[in-house]
Amino acid sequence: MTQSVEIVLGIETSCDETAAAVLAGGEKVLSNVISSQVEIHAEYGGIVPEIASRKHVEAIDFVVKEAISKAGISFSQVDGIAVTQGPGLVGSLVVGLSYAKACAFPSGKLITGVNHVHAHLMACFLERETMPEFPFVGLVVSGGHTSLYRVDDFFHVELLGSTRDDAAGEAFDKVAKILGLPYPGGPVISRLAKKGRPDAFSFPRARLPETPFDFSFSGLKTAVLQTVQKIKASSNGKLPVEDICASFQEAVIDVLVAKTLKAATEQKVEWVVASGGVASNARLRERLSAECKKHGLKFVVPRPVFCTDNGAMIALTGYHQLKEGMVLGPDADVYSRLPL
Ligand code: KG4
Ligand code: ZN
Repeated sequence: MTQSVEIVLGIETSCDETAAAVLAGGEKVLSNVISSQVEIHAEYGGIVPEIASRKHVEAIDFVVKEAISKAGISFSQVDGIAVTQGPGLVGSLVVGLSYAKACAFPSGKLITGVNHVHAHLMACFLERETMPEFPFVGLVVSGGHTSLYRVDDFFHVELLGSTRDDAAGEAFDKVAKILGLPYPGGPVISRLAKKGRPDAFSFPRARLPETPFDFSFSGLKTAVLQTVQKIKASSNGKLPVEDICASFQEAVIDVLVAKTLKAATEQKVEWVVASGGVASNARLRERLSAECKKHGLKFVVPRPVFCTDNGAMIALTGYHQLKEGMVLGPDADVYSRLPL
């Protein structure tokens, strides 16, 4: 039975962002508040799960109240709460789910558990003049995931392929570490790549012809490491960091673009969607957009703020679930792995 739902509060704590947003009518973002822990984890060169959970505990009440206040509503006007249930860091997810339960059950509000990857896929419907149409092929590229899906509607999502080893964002983060650049690697590498030559180094592109929609980035990461070690051991030893960044980035993007286009052609869809933190990369957006145009496909990518982790995509996915009566009970748990 379809439920009447208007205002949804979305809560996201699966990784290193404490985020909350208020969404009206399944499309209007009334507020979108994100408190990032990036600077804290940068000191350690990557996410420390124990610290992430503690920081979520510190931030969550403030972030949710800020989202409600910025939306210009009171908590009593919220019809339902959507919260990330997985995949992600268990300790971090527990903070979000427990907070959502504490808000929902005493007040008698509905609560729904959202799959984080599902939410990345649905972020393409946030604040758009032209909405993508089903069916579409969706590429999710983030720090934890790199997968291609065929999406027939909000609830029918078919996995076409995913990474066998590192996620694309993880490869950016590891290559940044190899180059002595700060965490997270994506933004800094894409900035430096602008000043480098993408053809300076010929890094490998794993095509995996037997499973053409799967990805592999560990060979690329190793090739960058070996190149860096070789240059460091040479007489001059000066690293052409900008050229390495540009060549590495181009290798990742070549693979993402080629596999996404192949999937769209094989699946005979008209629309292509990209999302997840790596989809905020300007070069990837530009290349995907140009290639889709060339092949007569329509392309949608969310604004960068909706590509990286945010509460609005959780609220949007939760809105559709709540309308279908998909609700959680008091004993609901979180999941570090949660297939779509
Ligand atoms: O979606 P997200 O915020 O969190 C996860 O669900 O993992 O993605 C974070 C990842 C990080 O690995 C980060 O390095 C990468 O997205 N990223 C980028 C860019 N901005 C963030 N990668 C490439 N280019 C960027 N501009
Ligand atoms: Zn994410």
